[in-house]
Order: sequence, then C-alpha cells, then structure tokens
Amino acid sequence: MCSSVAAKLWFLTDRRIREDYPQKEILRALKAKCCEEELDFRAVVMDEVVLTIEQGNLGLRINGELITAYPQVVVVRVPTPWVQSDSDITVLRHLEKMGCRLMNRPQAILNCVNKFWTFQELAGHGVPLPDTFSYGGHENFAKMIDEAEVLEFPMVVKNTRGHRGKAVFLARDKAPFGHLIRHEAPYLFQKYVKESHGRDVRVIVVGGRVVGTMLRCSTDGRMQSNCSLGGVGMMCSLSEQGKQLAIQVSNILGMDVCGIDLLMKDDGSFCVCEANANPFQEPKKQIQTNKKIPREQTFLLPPS
Ligand SMILES: Nc1ncnc2c1ncn2[C@@H]1O[C@H](COP(=O)(O)OP(=O)(O)O)[C@@H](O)[C@H]1O
Ligand SMILES: [Mg+2]
Repeated sequence: MCSSVAAKLWFLTDRRIREDYPQKEILRALKAKCCEEELDFRAVVMDEVVLTIEQGNLGLRINGELITAYPQVVVVRVPTPWVQSDSDITVLRHLEKMGCRLMNRPQAILNCVNKFWTFQELAGHGVPLPDTFSYGGHENFAKMIDEAEVLEFPMVVKNTRGHRGKAVFLARDKAPFGHLIRHEAPYLFQKYVKESHGRDVRVIVVGGRVVGTMLRCSTDGRMQSNCSLGGVGMMCSLSEQGKQLAIQVSNILGMDVCGIDLLMKDDGSFCVCEANANPFQEPKKQIQTNKKIPREQTFLLPPS
C-alpha cells in the first residue's frame, strides 16, 4: 500500500472472479493511479467483510480487523448474474449507508441484475426497446407462450438472469419449447430484431460519456453475438443516435461504469438489448481474435 493519509479508495470484488483478467487489470491500474495520486488504496474481497450493527451504529471488520477509517470511494466488481440481494447487495448497502460512494451504486447494479428489471426502469422514458413480456409465476408456462404470441414467431426467449448468451434462444415457432427452459429465474419473451441477427454494438459508458464502442458478430450464423459463444468483437464507429441512446440508458439506470448493448435496425437506428453493470468480463482471448467477420456485417467498421 502507498504511504498516504486522507482520501481512501477500495476495490471490492468477489473471490470467484478475483483472478480473472479484467479484475487483475483493474486492480493493477487502480493501484498505480492511487500511488501516483497518493491515495490510500485497499483491495477487499466480499467474503472477508463482516458487517456489524453495535449500539445502534453501523460498523465493519475485514478479516477480524476493525475498520475505523472508511473509504470515500469503493470501486465495485461483482459478477452481476450471480449477485445475491441478501448477501452481496447487503454489503454494498452497508458501505453506502456508512457514507461511501460506490461505483456502481447498489441500486444501479440491481437495475441490471435482471433483464426485465432493466426494461422496467427504461420504460416510459422514450427509449427504443423491443416489445418484451414476462410473468409472475411459471406454473403454466404454455399459457405464457400463448400470451406472448402477439410478439410473433420467431421470437426471442431469455432467462431474465442469463449471461454470456447461454440462456437466450430464438423460438422459431410455437412447437413446445417449455422443456428447453430451466426455471431458476423467470424468462422473458421478446420481439426478434431480425435486422440485428448475429450482431450488436457494445457501448462502454463511463461517467455519462461514451469511451468505447465494439461491434460484436457471431461467426456461425447464430443469433447471439456474444464473444463467449465464439463471436468476434472489434472497435467500430457509432452514430450520434447510438451514442446518445447509450448515455441516456446509463443515466436512467444510474450507472457510473457500464456496457450497453444495442441492437441495429435497418434504418441505421438502434434499440436497447441489455445493460451490463460489470462489462469487460469476457476473457481477453475471446475479444481479440483473428476470425473472419462475415462480409455483410462489416459495414459498421471504420474505413481502413
Ligand atoms: N431481441 C433480440 N433480437 C435479436 N437479437 C437479439 C435479441 N436479444 C438478444 N439478441 C442477441 O443475443 C445476444 C445475447 O442476448 P442478451 O440479452 O445480451 O443476453 P446475455 O446477457 O446472455 O448476453 C445479444 O448480444 C444479441 O446478439
Ligand atoms: Mg449480452
């Protein structure tokens, strides 16, 4: 740790992802920056934290050490799909109640934990969203499929807590697909944005500014463009509408750092696919690859 006094910054992450490439890089960069700026820095793992309320006051211990000086800022990296409201969010709430500024804030993280929650937040703000249905219980899943039929087949079906494209599929017709579904979390039914089949744009927004845009394309004809499923990603340019949309989404959700995924329409405009509170989680090797991009998908690339 760098010798310093006043300001403190923590990097709070989860043991399960601590050794992954993005967390290691963030840790390295934060350490270097804090040293340069003479900020006191500490890396903390979620399961080292003990939360206390004693004599009516909030307190905290880390590995048995009583914490007396709290950080001003906590940079949070938690694996969003697995975030538990009753444990991870409890730690984040505790720190926030103690006066720490969390990046991202717990409410913002929660807004992205469940894909339908994200859309509930965005609805009513004039943000272009593909029509989406979900439900309160799944005892009668066949009935839900009937209700969603107005979205027309083929239709996109997603687990509201899915990630890495694993729990998303295109239901081509009404042939029963209930058996494909594992009901740990509710599913949603969504209008298929045909024009965007196999491609989307990941927009990185930090502090309300677009800092990076990546075109992602599947290479095997599948609908999901996720790099973790073999899709390739490359830097691309983005229209002003695309940038403003990503910024608007980030602001509505209250994000400090996020990855907004946009689907493309034929007229060059975009609509929202999802928001990620924990971007860059895909391993480095899956983002930088020399796989060939299908010709028809290259129009978004900057001129070489
Ligand atoms: N409504 C849709 N229409 C067309 N393609 C879609 C639609 N929804 C998702 N996709 C594709 O599937 C991918 C995965 O969906 P997404 O909702 O981002 O789930 P995950 O969290 O698993 O990445 C997207 O990146 C996009 O390529
Ligand atoms: Mg996604």
